This record gives sequence, C-alpha cells and structure tokens, in this order.
Amino acid sequence: MKENEKDLYYLQGLSIPETPAPGQEPKPWQKTETIGKRVPRVDAYERVSGAAVYPSDIVLPEMIYGAILRCPHPNALVKKLDISAAIEMPGVLAVVSGSDPEARLEWNYSKEIKTALFEPHCRFEGEPVAAVAAETPYQAWDALRAVNVQYEVLPFVADERDALKKNAPSVHAGGNLLKTEKYERGNVEKGFIDADVVLEENYRTQCELHTPLELHGCVAQWNGDRLTLWESTQGVYAVQEKVAEVLGMPLSKVRVIGRYMGGGFGSKLQAGKYTIIAALLAKKAARPVKLFLTREETYLAVGNRPPNDMRLKAGVKKDGTLTALDFCCTGTGGAYPSGGTSLVDWLIRDLYKCPNVRTECTDVYIHAGPARPFRAPGHPQAAWALEQMMDALAKAIHMDPVELRLKNIPDFSQAKEGNPPYTTTGLRQCLEEGARAFGWEEARKKSAPSSGAGHIKRGVGMASCLWFVGGGWPPSTVILKLFSDGSMNLNMGASDIGTGTKTVMALVAAEELGIRPEMIEIEHADTGTTQYATPSGGSKTVPTEAPTVRAAAISIKQQLLEMAAKDLQEEVVALSFKDGNVYSTKEPSKKIRIADISGLKKRGVIVGVGYRGPNPENKSINPFAAQFCEVEVNTKTGEVKILRFLGTNDSGRVMDRLTYDSQVIGGITMGIGLAMTEYRVLDRNQTGKMLNRNWHDYKLPTAMDVPDDIVSLPIELVDTQANTTGAKGLGEPVTIPTAPAIANAVYHATGIRITETPISPGKLIRLLAESRKEG
Ligand code: MOS
Repeated sequence: MKENEKDLYYLQGLSIPETPAPGQEPKPWQKTETIGKRVPRVDAYERVSGAAVYPSDIVLPEMIYGAILRCPHPNALVKKLDISAAIEMPGVLAVVSGSDPEARLEWNYSKEIKTALFEPHCRFEGEPVAAVAAETPYQAWDALRAVNVQYEVLPFVADERDALKKNAPSVHAGGNLLKTEKYERGNVEKGFIDADVVLEENYRTQCELHTPLELHGCVAQWNGDRLTLWESTQGVYAVQEKVAEVLGMPLSKVRVIGRYMGGGFGSKLQAGKYTIIAALLAKKAARPVKLFLTREETYLAVGNRPPNDMRLKAGVKKDGTLTALDFCCTGTGGAYPSGGTSLVDWLIRDLYKCPNVRTECTDVYIHAGPARPFRAPGHPQAAWALEQMMDALAKAIHMDPVELRLKNIPDFSQAKEGNPPYTTTGLRQCLEEGARAFGWEEARKKSAPSSGAGHIKRGVGMASCLWFVGGGWPPSTVILKLFSDGSMNLNMGASDIGTGTKTVMALVAAEELGIRPEMIEIEHADTGTTQYATPSGGSKTVPTEAPTVRAAAISIKQQLLEMAAKDLQEEVVALSFKDGNVYSTKEPSKKIRIADISGLKKRGVIVGVGYRGPNPENKSINPFAAQFCEVEVNTKTGEVKILRFLGTNDSGRVMDRLTYDSQVIGGITMGIGLAMTEYRVLDRNQTGKMLNRNWHDYKLPTAMDVPDDIVSLPIELVDTQANTTGAKGLGEPVTIPTAPAIANAVYHATGIRITETPISPGKLIRLLAESRKEG
C-alpha cells in the first residue's frame, strides 16, 4: 500500500469522541458521524449473493445425513422398537434409539419433569423415538420407515380449554395443572366501585408456530474427543452449555459455530434434541453428520407462541382515569413446562397507570409440542386483550383512544419490585407524534363506520405497548484488534440473528475510533474463537453488546494515547484524536499518524478488551411503542385489506436507521400474521394431530397481505442512563401492538369486535351477518 492511502482507513475532518481516563465512564456521544445514519449491512453482499455460509450450507468431507423418526400420535407408549431392518437398509451407517446405552440421556424441561432424549412415553406428536444416519438424506428417510415401532396409543387432550375438565387424560402423573400465578395490588373491588364505566370481555389468541426460513439443525463432527457443531442458533454459548451438560463433556471440548443463521425469533435460543442426536449419530458412524429438520418437523417440534384464553374486566372514570384491571388467563406450553403463560399479564400490570390490578394466570398441560419464546413472549397476547379493551373503554366514555392512553402514562414501573422509575419513557411522544404523523384525527373522522353506503368500509385503529426488558445486561466480552495499518478486527460471541447486529457493532467501533466501518472485519458466534455472549434475544443484543464494543474501542484509544505520548513527548491528557492522527491540544502541530505510533508498529496489533458494565440500580429500562393503521373491510366477503401502518418506537438512540426501519417493518409483518392468518390447527376431537404442518396450510403473511405503506417513526430519546450508547431494544416491541391495532381498525370500520385471532374472512362475515340480524 502506498503511504498516502493509509489515511483512507480513518474518517477525515470530524471530531473523535473524547477518550475517558482509565476507569472513568465515557460521556454520551454528541454529534455522531456513522451512528444513526442509513448504513447498509456490512454483510449485505454475502447475504444477498448467496455467498454467506449458513449452517445448513455446510458440507464436510465424508459427511452423511441424519433423520429423526417421530411419534405420530399425541400420546403413546413405545412398546417395542426394532431397528434390525433399518440398519440393513442401503446407505445406512448408524441408528440410535432409547435402547442404546450411549443414547440413554436425560433431557429436562424443568427440575420437576425429567424426560429422556428418546422418551418412551411420547406426550406429543413429534417426540423423537429413533434416528438414523445414511449416505444420502433419502436413504436416511427410507430407513426411518424400516424402523418397526409398536405404540400403545393413549387418549389425548389437545386444547387448553379441555385440559382441566374432569375426564381429560392426564399428560403427567400429577394431572394437567402446571401452575397458577397470582398478582394483586390495590383493591380491585373498590376500583370497580369508583369507576363510571366497567367493561368485561373474553379474548383469545391462537397458537402461532415457529417457522423460520432456515430450518432447525446442525452439522456435527467429532475429532477424537472434541465435538464441533455448526448450528443454526441465536446463541452459540447456550448451545455449547446444553450439549456439554447432556453429553457430560467439558465446555472446552464442545465448539459451536453459528456465524450466519436464518431466523430464530426465540425458537433457537437453545440446543434442540436434534443437536444431541446429530452428535450421537456422528459418533456412532464415525462420520460428520448433517441433521436439519424438515419443515413438517419444524412445525411439530421446535416450539410455538402458546394459545391464551383471557378475560379482562376494566373500570374507568369519565375523565379517562383507569380505576381497576382484573385479568384472568389460561395458557399452555404443550406437554412440558415451557412457559404457557409467561409474561402474559405483564402489560396489564405495567403499561398504564392503574392503582388496582389483579391478575391470575393458569398454565396447563396438553398433548402438543412444547412452547418456546416467540418474539416478545406473552406481550402480543396481552396487547390483544388490553388494547382492544382500551379502545372499547374510550368509546364508552366518548374519548379518543389516543387521548385515553395519554391520560394513563406511568413514569415508573408499577409492577417491578420497589417501583423503579423508567430511565426514559417516550410513550407520550410515540402517541402524540405518531398520531400527528399518521393523520389520526382526520383519518378517524373520514373513515368511521358511517362512511358511505357501499359495502367497502374504512377504519383506523391504534394500540401501544412497552416491552418487559430491553436495556440489555451483563455479561458480555468483546475484543477489538487494531492492526498496524489502522484496519481492525471485531471479535464477539453474539449471533446476528438477521437484525443487523454485526453492522451496528461495526458502527459503534467506527464511531468511537473514527475508522471507516468497512475497515472493520467481524469474527463472531464461535465458542472456539470468540468471546462470551448470551443468546441474541429479548431485544437485548444491541444494548448489551454495543456498550461492550464501545468499552473495547475506548481501551484501544487509551493505549494509543499512552504510546503516542511517548513518541510526542507529551502528557496523555493533552492528547486527542483527529483524522487518523494523535495530536497535542496544546500545540496542534505536534502530531503523529496512528499508523506511525512506534508502540503500535512494534507490537503489530493492539488488543482492546471491553466488558459490559452493570445497569443502573433501581431503574427500569424499557422500550415503548405505538402503532396506527388503516384498513378496508369488504362487508360482503369479510376480507380485510390493510392499507397502511405507522410504527413509532422509543428505543433510545437510533443506531442504524436502515436496520431500525427493517425491524419495524418485520415486526408489523409478524403482527399481521398473528392478527390475520396464523394459527395451529390440532384435530381436537379425532386424532389430536396437527392438520396444517406446512407452508400451504399454515398461512404466513405474504407480500400480498402486507401494505407497502409502512412508516417507521423513531422517537429518539437518547437513554443516557441505560448504557453508554443510549440505545434500548427494538426487535420485540415492534410486533406487540400490531394485532390489536388492526382489530381496533376493523371495529372502527364495521362495529364488529373480533376477540379471537385470526381475523379471518369466514369469522368476520359470520359476525357481520349476526349483527345485521340483530340490527
Ligand atoms: Mo426472543 S423471543 O428473546 O428470541
């Protein structure tokens, strides 16, 4: 490289953030150069061109293919299992089942409920009973059919509303009640007496199934006693921990690599049984094994957003003051303890100011696949109830729905221990600025049910939310390596689950050091070579990892200043960065190019280690959001067309406006799925089996269902208390209010309140017909 090209590594003409002395906290960024801009993803080319190697793309020499035989019944005992024919099938190199001593492993869903990897009592359709590995996937699938299993088929319960009935078959010996959780503050009865209006309604959200684009699975390879897994995961360290625990191995002997991954949404926060099974097959066959589930298996076994039956009673005064909320909910995580009611009551407890609140959540077992976290666990369900109720209360007291919410904005968490104040709350701005940008008042007047005599009715609706967490937390470690020419390597353990994590982290390092983002190469998500990180989830990846990257960058700057001080014969405190130079603020002509600092040249590389510091004490860090939408309802067909959406978010500082807006668009798309099309169909009466285990019958929203007019409006309140970058989580709040906003718009258009998801044409047309009969 020519001498004059070296400066291209650094951004010119801008001030670099002040470097704090060792041990001091950095000040919030003032004017930012790269942070907050619309920056395309650092790995955009790889992703779009197909050059990126996802775990499911991995091909190793001698690699063979694994497949899992799954129980076809919702409740059955494996009476006999004969693999003798399967092992003779063409291409078969290994078969494992519960009768192998090495496969007799525990797989625990909780402390109380212990099960086996190959559980002889299958409690849901899709429990693994055996697995094979063969030269080709087709040979593996053929061999599965040659496994002879005799089941004793038992009666089942497939609906949470039936689980506690007297004659319901028990999923576990202790019956179908997993737990009931209660919460209470104030005096709910008195709250209802104080109210001018009390409303009560039942709501239900259907079970949504995880079906990310990249299927679940891994490639497993043994090298002596060392196991390497290429796994499609949100957290390589979480997978490493579980695999080491189940197989009884030291952590150092299990390496998990997951550089790219094609979507998880909560379903890939942990290892699957398939991970362990792949490792067992690879060991037995002495060959690397690729085991990715089929789409059908994905629907059966990788988890879901649990269905929830909810009842909400609410009291409000004429002036919009909420006086009481009484919430009752049943949910099911399927056959095992897996969070059937997790966080379902959180919005009821915490979103709006209300002195008297009571919640009761009952989690029951049914014979169905276990739930998993699903983008904002519990929250979209509660929002479906609470936000429709707010809409109804507003109407009952003749108040605008936005106004009613503005009347009840809390500035501290009412439900968290000690009532900690929020670091920032932009809920008011989300509502006010969102309504203004959407043209809420005009649209509300213009559309209304009375709008025109035709059969096409327009309506607008809105909803708001907060997300339970969103400030991130320790631990996290990040290492930055500055090479002698000024280019850099960023090393972190976190997965980029498609949200743009890598890009945001490159921007943070670039911002702090004044380096061009494209000069930063990223190594991540590999337990063998990268630093510790918790799984990417909970909308915590940016607020956890970004301050850690900033800390590492500051460490590099501190070391450079020390070294430059020697070269320049100047005190460290008098030195500052600009244009790829370190210069003396006392005597600006006294300067040295970073690339020329002798300490850097001598060492070759400078390493900066960043650790995630603690969160502020006694504070609650939460993102807030509101969404507004306009719909058109065909009252002859029941068809709902979503015309436009606007999402406002207070997620603190906007790190990359492009990836930020992508989250908003993606979250609304997913919310449209919950509202309009997605639900698991179990054959409740005859077989208990899942009837829509494919992309044809399980309807994900497509481009036809999502409006092209989706506006993202960030409310940028830099949260200086939350962490050193001022950013809060975004990925989950963006999907919480979507479904009730649509339901409220449909109500506005038609006067019909749909209390159970999805808002299907069939359901709507029936309700419209009933209302005409009544009317
Ligand atoms: Mo999320 S549901 O924490 O991946």
